[in-house]
Amino acid sequence: MPKVKTLVDGKTYDVAVGTKFLDLCQQQKAKHDFGCTVGSCGVCRLELVEGGANVDPITTDEKDTLALATDHTNARLGCQLVIRGDIAVRPVA
Ligand code: FES
Repeated sequence: MPKVKTLVDGKTYDVAVGTKFLDLCQQQKAKHDFGCTVGSCGVCRLELVEGGANVDPITTDEKDTLALATDHTNARLGCQLVIRGDIAVRPVA
């Protein structure tokens, strides 16, 4: 069972493989900001501090949204993140 650590509050959550990060945050009240929840606003952008290979690959649509939302080169959208293994995340500007 994958472990998800959120560096904002230092908490770690156990999730099933295939869980969406958005669902984890909504169900467990994990601290992370979201806006549209459908991949278009960029509010949920984050950095995978650990486990970058343990999520589904980035899509073209996600890349397009991130290009408008941040200069961070390794950012992902929290609302689009599907968890496949252990990860650690933190928000990015
Ligand atoms: S909440 Fe809008 S892109 Fe993720």
